[in-house]
Amino acid sequence: MSESNQHSDYLLGVNQLELERLQFQQSVWGHITRKFLNRLEVQKGWRCLDVGAGPGLVSIELREMVGETGEVVALEPSKFYLDWLRKQAAERGWNNISCVQGTAEQAALPSGYYDLVFVRWVVAFVPDLEKFLAPLFTTLRPGGIIAIQDYYYEGLSLYPHGGACDGLADIVRAYYRSGGGDAYITGRIPEVFARHGLRVVDFTPTCLAGGPTSGVMEWAHRFFSLHIPLMAEKGIISREQADQLLTDWQAHRQKQETLFFSPLVVDVAGSKQ
Ligand SMILES: C[S@@+](CC[C@H](N)C(=O)[O-])C[C@H]1O[C@@H](n2cnc3c(N)ncnc32)[C@H](O)[C@@H]1O
Repeated sequence: MSESNQHSDYLLGVNQLELERLQFQQSVWGHITRKFLNRLEVQKGWRCLDVGAGPGLVSIELREMVGETGEVVALEPSKFYLDWLRKQAAERGWNNISCVQGTAEQAALPSGYYDLVFVRWVVAFVPDLEKFLAPLFTTLRPGGIIAIQDYYYEGLSLYPHGGACDGLADIVRAYYRSGGGDAYITGRIPEVFARHGLRVVDFTPTCLAGGPTSGVMEWAHRFFSLHIPLMAEKGIISREQADQLLTDWQAHRQKQETLFFSPLVVDVAGSKQ
């Protein structure tokens, strides 16, 4: 199933394959998110908003942390993802996760309400960062925290060098730009926080690395094997370039000595004064 017509601006689309990719992504990167949430000292009873929740993989983590007395709201444009999350919550007997279908820019959010707003892998896609963030700042209570996990798209590297994939990071940055996004988005967040009176309380970059059988290289494989052909379809690269990239990528996957370094994912959190 695909919802690409309902939310056509979203670069990665919404479908079963993408849901499975997000689940695998959680198995590789979930420990980094958990460390971030632990540093933020999320408490039982907190009210949390998971923005661009997708199928709610972070919402589920948050519900584990806030317990029965807390509240988790998943804000997400895709009904397909929210239906999946509703099913997960029902299976666990949880009645304090609710799903709101909509975007950050347009949803009606209560003022000064949430202890924590969490936004993972969303802001790099949005065409107007300030328009996206402004309602999220308003919905935080004074002292509340907005926490963002997203790319600063440096660091991506496939070793040994010398093949078509040496140019991959630049191509992915162009792919994000083609949808109105910015793969360096976390570099802009501290300045935006400061201008809106938020104090930066965390700024932690992470690069994961591993060989051909590692989770992180498999995570990258699931993204590149799906999206390199789409980049060619969108005219960001030629079909010939796409073939060269996929051939070089597959050749690296066959070699034991290969190392893949992920792009930097930055945890950045701000506290509302
Ligand atoms: C890469 S997925 C990440 C999902 C989830 N946060 C996670 O980490 O697993 C990005 C999600 O952001 C949602 N999204 C895109 N633009 C949005 C917006 N303006 N407001 C809210 N959600 C948005 C998409 O529908 C998609 O589900």
